[in-house]
Amino acid sequence: MKILVVGSGGREHALAWKIAQSERIQMVYVAPGNGGTALDARLKNVAITDPAALAQFARDEHITLTVVGPETPLAAGIVNLFRERGLKIFGPTREAAQLESSKDFAKSFMQRHGIPTAEYQTFADSAAAHAYLDQRGAPIVIKADGLAAGKGVVVAMSSDEAHAAVDMMLSDNKLGDAGARVVIEEFLEGEEASFIVMVDGKNILPLATSQDHKRLLDQDLGPNTGGMGAYSPAPIVTPALHARVMREIIIPTVHGMAKDGIPFTGFLYAGLMIDKAGNAKTLEFNCRMGDPETQPIMARLKTDLLSVFEHAVAGTLDTVELEWDRRTALGVVMAAAGYPDAPRKGDAITGIPAETVECVTFHAGTTHIDGKLQTSGGRVLCVVGLGDSVKMAQKQAYETIEQIGFDGAQYRSDIGWRAIKRPA
Ligand code: AMP
Ligand code: GLY
Repeated sequence: MKILVVGSGGREHALAWKIAQSERIQMVYVAPGNGGTALDARLKNVAITDPAALAQFARDEHITLTVVGPETPLAAGIVNLFRERGLKIFGPTREAAQLESSKDFAKSFMQRHGIPTAEYQTFADSAAAHAYLDQRGAPIVIKADGLAAGKGVVVAMSSDEAHAAVDMMLSDNKLGDAGARVVIEEFLEGEEASFIVMVDGKNILPLATSQDHKRLLDQDLGPNTGGMGAYSPAPIVTPALHARVMREIIIPTVHGMAKDGIPFTGFLYAGLMIDKAGNAKTLEFNCRMGDPETQPIMARLKTDLLSVFEHAVAGTLDTVELEWDRRTALGVVMAAAGYPDAPRKGDAITGIPAETVECVTFHAGTTHIDGKLQTSGGRVLCVVGLGDSVKMAQKQAYETIEQIGFDGAQYRSDIGWRAIKRPA
């Protein structure tokens, strides 16, 4: 069988790596892929990004099934297009992807269906937005309605910062159309976790839990990033909380979308904020897997992922039971100099060791040119260690990182700290 994975990040490398472990796989194509997918003999990069050209490729190459990694092609309707052409694809339609591509859509959906989330209002008019900020005070959170590649959320600790964020989005149009409307919402305190499930329109299959690290620097300082590391499972999501999140957030979301005439198919990622009392609220929905959460999650998955995707597109996810490695997987992102604002490209990468049962390195911003591996983007690698405890997984990942080198590499030295600090 031939499978196509759309995307070029660490998430897509991890998905393709896992799919390729299936005995029934002939080839996994990755479009456009990266240096790591180029180097893996079981994977093949295809230099196509346009959705219509990808559909043509899928038809010409007799691709059994396509899996989409990033949100941009999903929001652009790649799933609609493939389905119109009779091609099998796993992901949400353009309409369902609005759960991620429009914060206003997601918030009004949650409000309508009684799904716990922060209180909010949406504004297109800057005077009204400023007046609302004056009324609410800080801390407060300002979010661009549309997709803004991780730059659309400002957690304002002062009212000056909040007003500046509204000006940036509504008056100065710094985010273009994405910032033409803003959601202003209540600041929530607590600990975050990533809750990701697979949905086939009606059946829901939860994946292992995980926790991301959004800030660039140790101790959760510095600017927000796409994610500097993640581990799975996330012990904050106890079995009791897991059941509650399914009951209060995930099931009402999937049923609500079906009831609204927009059945959800694909990965559904609820970003949770869990307060001290153990109540979870939805910070955001993503209509795809997380990056870097996918990397540790895939490192733990034992079930044949190809068969899971086959059930997902057939609408039979209710027959699937996933098996997980009992160990913790912990992934540390190595980012380029200048990330996140202005990542430098073209630095030579050395020392990535071969995969072992205790460590695997997924590529993101890398290219393989003339036999040489170079940096080509912000997040360069995600080094995943596995161990019987978070601490042991962490040790594995950092021991491997010591062998890897490129100029200006930035990485956090404390990935997993919340889980390690947590009382047993
Ligand atoms: P989002 O893209 O909506 O997940 O926001 C990015 C990050 O901003 C989240 O991972 C949180 O760290 C933070 N954030 C978003 N919404 C809130 C909120 N209502 N209260 C506190 N922090 C938030
Ligand atoms: N790691 C956060 C995300 O994928 O959105």
